[in-house]
Amino acid sequence: MEKQMLRASLEELEKRGHLMVCNAAVDPKFEMGAVLKYFKNEKPILFKKVKGSKIPVVGGLFGNRSIYYEMLDLTREERIGRIANAIANPKPTKLLKNGPVMENIITKNINLPSMLPIPTFHEKDSSSFITAGLMVVKDPENGKRYISVRRFQINGGNRMSALIASPLLTRQFEELEKLNKPLEVAIVLGYDYSLLLASQVSSETYGIDKYEIDSALRGEPLGLVKCHSVDLEVPAHAEYVFEGIMPPNKREPEGPFGELMGYYGPKGSHPIIEVKTVMHRNSPIFQTAFPCREEHLSNGLIREVEMFSDIKRLVDVKDVNVTVAGGCRFHAVVSIHKKFEGDGKSAVIGALSSSKDVKHVVVVDDDMDIFDKDEVELALATRVQASRDVTIIPGALGSGLDPSHHIQGVTDKMGIDATKPLGEEGARFHRAIIPQFEKVDIDRYFPNLSL
Ligand SMILES: Cc1cc2nc3c(=O)[nH]c(=O)nc-3n(C[C@H](O)[C@H](O)[C@H](O)COP(=O)(O)O)c2cc1C
Repeated sequence: MEKQMLRASLEELEKRGHLMVCNAAVDPKFEMGAVLKYFKNEKPILFKKVKGSKIPVVGGLFGNRSIYYEMLDLTREERIGRIANAIANPKPTKLLKNGPVMENIITKNINLPSMLPIPTFHEKDSSSFITAGLMVVKDPENGKRYISVRRFQINGGNRMSALIASPLLTRQFEELEKLNKPLEVAIVLGYDYSLLLASQVSSETYGIDKYEIDSALRGEPLGLVKCHSVDLEVPAHAEYVFEGIMPPNKREPEGPFGELMGYYGPKGSHPIIEVKTVMHRNSPIFQTAFPCREEHLSNGLIREVEMFSDIKRLVDVKDVNVTVAGGCRFHAVVSIHKKFEGDGKSAVIGALSSSKDVKHVVVVDDDMDIFDKDEVELALATRVQASRDVTIIPGALGSGLDPSHHIQGVTDKMGIDATKPLGEEGARFHRAIIPQFEKVDIDRYFPNLSL
């Protein structure tokens, strides 16, 4: 039985009762996205019949926190330590001679729109998009491999445009352009929970080979094979690999595209990729990601690790929730073991400084569950006086995904210290409890109740 990548994940999801299978014919234009969105992007769905194609599509895989933890065999409590440990202690990968992804190797007549069931999600999207592709590149200087999810607009034939927001990769490509050299790339579809999480670690911050972070996370070496036409390695058990080059000094229009926050990203001029080789498994499955906040959970999980360690320098932090509703980047709720007056505001400083994208932060005490919105609201309602506890920093650098800025990219930041005072004053905030409440057996009182 395979243990790595999408097939193994699908088997596991099915076993655990998480996989929904759609046998009705679905149009990849709008209809597929509508079905994914209906289930709030939190249900893995395998679309077996896709109009205009023989290839099934899977989506909605990575948007549900508890499924994510299950698939990585993690608990909420241990996740931050385990992920941080994998980043700090990467492990070797295993290079294999052969792998299922090499079962079919196509080098001629590559026409992506006719080969693949590529969805179009929103009304004004410029084209169909590969939204789940993991782009693999190699740092020409140190040979480290960087893998990151990017979106790829289908431009026709073997060409697509790539949206790359990474300063490191942009610099690398511009250096090659000066020498009139192309950048070799591979785009992988059909990965799993561990590899996606590893891919979300920032290359700029850590400079670590992300395949090796994956090996540490999954607890065994990631199996890789060499690409057919470029000097890169890809997961042996992936579904598809698109190999090609980003040619120097070529740009094509990309966008608009309905992005994760539910607004359109604008049309821009972006590098293109010319696909030279397509490798795929027998009976391949195409993987998609509806562009939504939930699909960015993997990114949020990495941000939580970073924020936790930034706050830990200042305060005894208990846990961090970079919320999915805030796009896994704008909003954080932090719980602390408050030891000194001022800890709440220090936690705000740590959280806001952990990433330019963080906009609003709420800090609560360790008796509040930061993953329960009602508990957070309770803290806001009963432990906050705005004139004392709300801090606003006007005009700092923010995320490009926020349309509320007056100057694009410049944003106000806000921190709310919703912790209770220490000492005698804190006594007013003791929460009323009923002894043995958890042990109440409601069936004894209402035998016919179905909840
Ligand atoms: C579903 C999803 C879609 C993403 N789309 C893009 C994208 O189109 N362009 C981009 O640069 N980053 C995108 N990201 C974020 C990057 O994958 C992430 O910031 C990156 O892995 C960080 O690594 P890097 O420092 O090597 O760029 C996306 C992330 C997810 C989870």
